[in-house]
Amino acid sequence: MTNPFTASPFVGKTFGVTVEHLTKRYGKTTVLADVSLEVRPGEIFCIMGPSGSGKSVLLKHVAGLELPTSGSVRIGHFDAADPATRNQVHLALVFQAGALFNSLSVYDNLALYPREHREADEAGIRDRVMHALQILSLEKAALKFPAELSGGMKKRVAIARALVMEPQLLLYDEPTSELDPVMSATLTEIIATLREQTAVTSIVVTHDSTLALNIADRIAVLMDGRIRATGPTADFKHHSDPVIANFLNPVIDLQNPRFKQLEQSHE
Ligand SMILES: Nc1ncnc2c1ncn2[C@@H]1O[C@H](COP(=O)(O)OP(=O)(O)OP(=O)(O)O)[C@@H](O)[C@H]1O
Ligand SMILES: [Mg+2]
Repeated sequence: MTNPFTASPFVGKTFGVTVEHLTKRYGKTTVLADVSLEVRPGEIFCIMGPSGSGKSVLLKHVAGLELPTSGSVRIGHFDAADPATRNQVHLALVFQAGALFNSLSVYDNLALYPREHREADEAGIRDRVMHALQILSLEKAALKFPAELSGGMKKRVAIARALVMEPQLLLYDEPTSELDPVMSATLTEIIATLREQTAVTSIVVTHDSTLALNIADRIAVLMDGRIRATGPTADFKHHSDPVIANFLNPVIDLQNPRFKQLEQSHE
């Protein structure tokens, strides 16, 4: 089968992302505090950080699903907060929980976007959908419904659906959570291959240091809503900041378990 993605008029056009002094508050809670970072066109940029540090909220700002309290996010020279930007940039967000339509089959979930945007005739859409399913080893699941899939399969369907949108900017939220180690490795290869084939700028939010250290060009670590460190991936293999080093490669101490320390600190 020929690769229908390389024929896309969007291929080759990609965008960088600039986050400048982004602060987000919900009521009195500050979730992002003066975050600035630059994602270069065509790179794979990983955002890491502990649970609750603000990673998903940051990604939603790039997708225009959340609006800054102050500061800005730009995609190329377009303002991510402006709804008109979605007409200029093909952006796909792979949500942490998949966000599939339960009443539609896997095939119809994937075909929905190109059908709504009348991007191709049904045969062209079928090619794109089947190619995306093939990349993610999901051909046999085409006629299944989301309720019949495992968590990892739903995740792969969500990624396949993003591919069908032929994105110029691909945003992944925890792409490898719920996947077994072999499927995680496959997915890591898929993200890297897609970037090579389509030069798509990819922002990957992840806890998975194996994924990040293998495919990222650059990494930022977010802690408590602030950027704790950012730089090329090589800097993170043995990071000079002990907090970052421990986050990426936590030491498991069975003699002195940290959950016991937590219990004591609450007594
Ligand atoms: N719509 C919202 N209203 C209020 N608080 C929110 C909202 N969305 C997120 N938060 C809060 O913002 C903080 C950061 O959430 P976020 O989902 O970005 O974390 P995360 O880093 O993605 O965590 P995880 O790794 O567990 O997915 C959390 O304390 C969360 O409760
Ligand atoms: Mg999250």
